[in-house]
Amino acid sequence: MASKLFSKYGRVFDLLPEIILVLDSKQNLIDLNRSAILSLGYDPEGPHPEHLEQLIPAEDWKTFSPKLLQQKDHEAFEAHLKRSDGSLIDVSVEIKELASGDKRFQVVIARDITEIKKRELEYLQFSNVIHYTINPIQITDAKGIMVYVNPAFEKASGYRKEELIGRNPRLLSSGKHSRDFWKNVWEQILSGKIWVGEIENRRKDGTAFHAELVISPIEDGNGNVVGFLGAHRDITEQKILQQQLIRSQKMESIGTLAAGIAHEVGNPLTSISSLVQVIQRTTTDDFTREKLELIKNQITRIAKIIRDLVDFSRPSTHVVKLTDLNHVLKEALSIVQYGKKVKDIVFHVELSESLPKLQIVPDQLSQVFINILINAVDAIDGKPGEISIRSGASNGRVQVSIRDSGKGIAPEDCEKIFEPFYTTKEVGRGSGLGLWVSYGIVKSFDGDIEVESLKGRGSTFHITLPINGE
Ligand SMILES: Nc1ncnc2c1ncn2[C@@H]1O[C@H](COP(=O)(O)OP(=O)(O)OP(=O)(O)O)[C@@H](O)[C@H]1O
Ligand SMILES: [Mg+2]
Repeated sequence: MASKLFSKYGRVFDLLPEIILVLDSKQNLIDLNRSAILSLGYDPEGPHPEHLEQLIPAEDWKTFSPKLLQQKDHEAFEAHLKRSDGSLIDVSVEIKELASGDKRFQVVIARDITEIKKRELEYLQFSNVIHYTINPIQITDAKGIMVYVNPAFEKASGYRKEELIGRNPRLLSSGKHSRDFWKNVWEQILSGKIWVGEIENRRKDGTAFHAELVISPIEDGNGNVVGFLGAHRDITEQKILQQQLIRSQKMESIGTLAAGIAHEVGNPLTSISSLVQVIQRTTTDDFTREKLELIKNQITRIAKIIRDLVDFSRPSTHVVKLTDLNHVLKEALSIVQYGKKVKDIVFHVELSESLPKLQIVPDQLSQVFINILINAVDAIDGKPGEISIRSGASNGRVQVSIRDSGKGIAPEDCEKIFEPFYTTKEVGRGSGLGLWVSYGIVKSFDGDIEVESLKGRGSTFHITLPINGE
């Protein structure tokens, strides 16, 4: 079909992909191009619409008519056009004034944006799902630089999105995974495959964040990888519980073993000890006496270890009583402060005055605090340093923390220090039972003991006990 009005250029007019409608001052359609006829579902040979109102749904006409009355050009706005079968298409419309001789026309230029609208809606739905899901999600570009994180990711990582966007996810690295591990991840996803695995990241506050992670490459229409989507499932809680379970199971089996040894070794040791005393009393030979004295010292040493082993595993026979934990702390401190090695150490003591009393065995708790304080003093190793002791209560538990500015503990040793006979002290200086016994005591009151440490910077031991003192 050739255009009537601009017959000379009619073909050009028909070649344009936009819908073009030419109106007179009464909005009669005096011309329309081929795209208009096809897009609006009319037969090129058959009758065509005659008035613009036929093509505009009633609610859009309210937008159209005032614009048509103003004799000026209008920038693009969104509206609908009605097809011959009554269905609607989304369009972006511009209205332009056109003068030909002394006649004035209006040209309606409409671009079909139905597809774009549909895609926008799909995108919106998709991005809403990503944005509001409880799973932490991050999107990176092809170089691995973060371009998007959802609120769940901000919450899980402890970083705000402004601190993450534009950065490499390495920012969150825990250092727990080898170079090869990440190399393998990259190889997989760069080849367009999905990677699934477990990772440990580090939050802004330094704590561990465990997640099951799925990384899928995002491809453009031509199959080029343009970015990556990482969806996490937070399994931190699960991991912590798992680790605690493994630890308490391990401690329990060690406890059983220790109790057995203590019993099996303890009894013969008592016999040896009494025999030594008998011979010592009856002999007149100086040499024998002297050697027996040495044997007695060694027996005392073994007996101390046996006592510690028993302390850990045997339910307490001491009397539980309502105790002021601050008082126990102060007593323990005064004992430790007698030592020679503390002269260059400054002690900071900050005890909560409103600490509830606890049903515990004061002597045992005193032993725990003395153990930890002596360790702290040893860690400072005669140099000038600081030890802070704090107590407080919250969430139904009492917390005591003992912090030192000593040599610190390497992350891989933080678990080991609670094991029996683990010591880094010289032979004869430490038996490696202090923390193990302390752990046993604290656990027997349903409490917990944990360490936080930075190698070379010091350590903090946190002891928590449930408030149980009715
Ligand atoms: N505050 C601390 N700073 C640095 N390292 C520590 C600290 N507390 C404990 N450790 C490490 O943990 C190890 C075990 O401590 P634990 O109290 O169980 O045994 P020990 O002090 O070596 O010997 P024991 O207490 O039986 O005399 C220590 O040898 C030390 O390496
Ligand atoms: Mg110790």
